[in-house]
Amino acid sequence: MISVRSFERSHELHDRAVEFAPGGVHSNVRLGTPKVFFERGKGAWLWDVDGNDYVDYLLGQGPMFLGHAPDDINQAVADAVSRGMVFGAQHPLEVEAGHKVLHQLGWAERLRFGVSGTESVQGALRLARAATGKTKFVRFEGHYHGWLDNVLVTVKDHEARVASEGQMASHVSDSIMLPWNNIEAVEATLASSADEIAAIIMEPIMFNTGSIAPRLGYLERVRELCDAHNIVLIFDEVISGFRVGPQGATGIVGVTPDLATFGKAIAGGWPVSAIAGRADLMDLFGAGVVNHSGTFNSSVMSAAAVSATMDRLAVSPPYASIREHGGALMEGIEELGRRHGLPLRVQGLPMAFHVSLGEDPEPFTDFEGLNRRDLPGYQALAKQFGDDGVWVAGRGIWYVSAEHGAAELDETLSRLDFTLGRQ
Ligand SMILES: Cc1ncc(COP(=O)(O)O)c(C=O)c1O
Repeated sequence: MISVRSFERSHELHDRAVEFAPGGVHSNVRLGTPKVFFERGKGAWLWDVDGNDYVDYLLGQGPMFLGHAPDDINQAVADAVSRGMVFGAQHPLEVEAGHKVLHQLGWAERLRFGVSGTESVQGALRLARAATGKTKFVRFEGHYHGWLDNVLVTVKDHEARVASEGQMASHVSDSIMLPWNNIEAVEATLASSADEIAAIIMEPIMFNTGSIAPRLGYLERVRELCDAHNIVLIFDEVISGFRVGPQGATGIVGVTPDLATFGKAIAGGWPVSAIAGRADLMDLFGAGVVNHSGTFNSSVMSAAAVSATMDRLAVSPPYASIREHGGALMEGIEELGRRHGLPLRVQGLPMAFHVSLGEDPEPFTDFEGLNRRDLPGYQALAKQFGDDGVWVAGRGIWYVSAEHGAAELDETLSRLDFTLGRQ
């Protein structure tokens, strides 16, 4: 029996936070999430300041792929930082970490570390412009590439607009927004504008909107078109990298990009990102022709975290257990929906699947399909899941970690059952 929980101390902390932090948060993504303050996390679990526990499927928006506070990663970081943290120069651990990442990926020849996915995406776009001498880039509806001016947009009726006050229309005039998984749209755009297009950037599996795989042959054709038109193909693997498999989405889809960006799961929860890719492109950084900088890039702690994460993925890859737990959970959620007469729809890959509310039982296959779901209804439900101890994102994505097992599955389904019984 799950009792109704109290959030008194969280509310007090929120009241104090709003006195200095706009909205009481430090990332606008969190404005829409319940104002719970967490005291600690371990494995698949979180505990808030009121003593409530949660099975966590938000996982910090993805980074806690190995579970919260992974002992091996944190010990490696603690050992390393006892000898220094940031040198403004090179150190042996960054060489070790870089080699391990490239070894794990298999296809990339060079790599630069950064701190956030957002900035690594910018680095990749800059490289593409420099290498091709062209300015525009093609991107896709429902894909997210960070919060900076040239990539932050909202899309309505296939039209992209700036998403924030303070952005200028000119900021997005160099991007061409297309529906994803629609090869005709790419072909038509390249037929008219290939000589202006430096890059095509996409999530190779679209996790930000629905956990949707590319259609058969889609990426292969995009690859061909990029080769034919001197366009740099960038896979934004900030979510998929190291999460969907040791080689990220690239290893699953079987198409190799020219550049890829990584973040989130690359470092067991530590703030690290990376750009990886073809030597001839990446070496423009090394030649000093294209600038890529950052005080904290390849800090001791980030290199130690990446290195230890790569060791874990090599020695005891968690993918089979994540697939098992995620798959069982997906089935369990659907079954609960049926039992409670709620149109809960579950789709995608077990490592990061998508849950929505909607009458249509068919998985949606694009951004428009997502918009036909009952998004406010699901967001309200996700909040109730959180209130009852299952911590999930309001936008529908459920991240599964290496630490989710049979006990978490049972507990999660019983808590969801309780919430759905209250509808
Ligand atoms: C695919 C993708 N690219 C880029 C980013 C931006 O990464 P960060 O939030 O680390 O800046 C995100 C964040 O969710 C993402 O999902």
